[in-house]
Amino acid sequence: MALSGLLRVGEVGLRIFDMDEARRHYGDRIGLIESYEGDDDKLYYKCPDEHDLYSLVLRKADEAGIDYVAFKTLEDADLENYEAALAEFGIEVTYVDAGVYPKSGRRLIFTLPTGHEMHIYAHKEQNGNGMPTRNPGTIPDEGYIRGMRTVRLDHVLLGGPNIETNREIFDKVFGFALSEQIVDHETETPLAIFLSASTKPHDIAFLIQPESNRFHHVSFLLESVNDLYHAADLIGKHEIAVDVAPNRHGVTRGATIYFFDPFGNRNEVFTGGYVHYPDTPTLTWDTTQIGRATFSHDNMPRESFLNVLT
Ligand SMILES: [Fe+2]
Repeated sequence: MALSGLLRVGEVGLRIFDMDEARRHYGDRIGLIESYEGDDDKLYYKCPDEHDLYSLVLRKADEAGIDYVAFKTLEDADLENYEAALAEFGIEVTYVDAGVYPKSGRRLIFTLPTGHEMHIYAHKEQNGNGMPTRNPGTIPDEGYIRGMRTVRLDHVLLGGPNIETNREIFDKVFGFALSEQIVDHETETPLAIFLSASTKPHDIAFLIQPESNRFHHVSFLLESVNDLYHAADLIGKHEIAVDVAPNRHGVTRGATIYFFDPFGNRNEVFTGGYVHYPDTPTLTWDTTQIGRATFSHDNMPRESFLNVLT
C-alpha cells in the first residue's frame, strides 16, 4: 500500500519558560535548526533532513508540557473526510485558516479522548534539507549538521485516559496499525499502545495516565549507534539531565537515550528499529516483562520513565 492520508508527525508544539535556555538546549546542544522567526513568543526549529520549514514549535509559557501534535496529510481535501469520520466518534473539529500557523496551509483541529490537541494540515512551506533536489549528493555543506546530528523529528509518546478510544480513532479514522502494546498481565488492559501510519514501528504512542493531556517525550531520529554515543558524550559534557543512558527498547527495538530539556520536557534520541508493514502482526508485551519491554540491556523498569510526565 502506498502511503496516503496521514504521513507523519509534522510538528509538535511544546511549552518552555526561557527563550535563551531553549535556544541553548534545542539549538546548540541538540543541533536543531532555527528556521523561522515570527513576531510571537515562539521558537521554530527543524531537523537537518526535513524539507518542511519547521517541525518543533516552542512557546514561552509558565509551565512545561505539550500544546499540540500536528500530523501532515497528503491532500488538503482529506480534511473534510476526517471531519466526517471524527463526527462518528462524537468529536467536533474546528478549521483554522492558512497562515495562522506561519507558512502552513489550513488546519483541522480537535481534541483526542486523551485530552491532547491534534492538528492536521496538508501544506507547509518547504526550504529543503541543505542539499539540492537535482544531483543532491549525500551530505550537506559542513556546519549544517550540528550537535546531536538529528535526522528528523520522529514520534511522540503522550499520556492520558481513554487510550483505547484513541486506538480506535487512529485505526478507523486514520488507518494506523497497532504495531505493539503493553498490557496488564492479569487483566489484559492495554497500558501503552504504539501506532504506526507508515513502515516505522510507531509514529505516535499513548501511555495510560489518570490525568489528561500529559506529555512523555518527543523523539528525534539519529543515523547510527555511533551518533547515539556521540549524543551521549554531548549530554555528559554539557551536564544535560539524563533520564535513561544509552539502552535498547524491547518495544520497537530502537537504541535510545532519554534526557530532559531545562524545563522538564523529556527528549529522546534513538536509532534503529524494525520495519512495520501493513501485514506485520501486533506485538504484545505484558507487565511480567515490563523491564525487557522498556529497556532490554538490563531488563530493568525505571520508575521515573513510567511516571514522570509534563
Ligand atoms: Fe520514543
